[in-house]
Amino acid sequence: MQVAPSVLSADFGNLQRDVEEICNAGCDFVHIDVMDGHFVPNMTIGPVVVSAIAKVATKPLDIHLMVESNTFFVELFAPLKPEYISFHIEEEKHPHRLIQKIRSLGIKPAIVLNPHTPPESVEYLLADLDMVLLMSVNPGFGGQSFINSVIPKAARLNELRNKINPNCLIQVDGGVSDKNIQALKDVGVDVVVAGSYVFKHKDRAEAIKSLQI
Ligand code: DX5
Ligand code: ZN
Repeated sequence: MQVAPSVLSADFGNLQRDVEEICNAGCDFVHIDVMDGHFVPNMTIGPVVVSAIAKVATKPLDIHLMVESNTFFVELFAPLKPEYISFHIEEEKHPHRLIQKIRSLGIKPAIVLNPHTPPESVEYLLADLDMVLLMSVNPGFGGQSFINSVIPKAARLNELRNKINPNCLIQVDGGVSDKNIQALKDVGVDVVVAGSYVFKHKDRAEAIKSLQI
């Protein structure tokens, strides 16, 4: 299981310290939540702060867009050369076109599904995706409770990707901790995002390792 700590739960007054700490602790990716105050009722950070994170991060960036104008934000963040950019299918009229655009910029494309969105919604996109992110909370805030229906949903997505594109990773984001990591592993999840569990833990390195099962 790969682990992408979400910097949303970091101490923004000590962002460099916190990003260096999770990278030194052996995380696999640095997860960045971009919120525009329209698609979700919260706002976070833009390219100025994300470029400061990119300068000190020694692990690849995984940018999760929670925005209305996906193409605008893809173009804004592409120069920072993240490993992944993921966008919500609920907010995109032409997801296949945007997948092609992200790939043409040298970035791995990923699609995010809100808790209500069925895994079949990406069935005909899976061949062209590097990752599908299943939300296990409603997007917008850290520290929410894990929604259990993501477990059967991930199991179904696992069947689809094994058939169509075994190289496409399954990621789960929201409420992830040592309490649900085994259940996620059992249904084929490859990467978890963890915000409050990692950053509020007394030993962040230990928290990351407890998820890398
Ligand atoms: C929620 C974000 C998550 C969030 C997860 O909209 O996408 O990445 O930071 O935080 P926790 O792990 O605290 O649920
Ligand atoms: Zn996220």
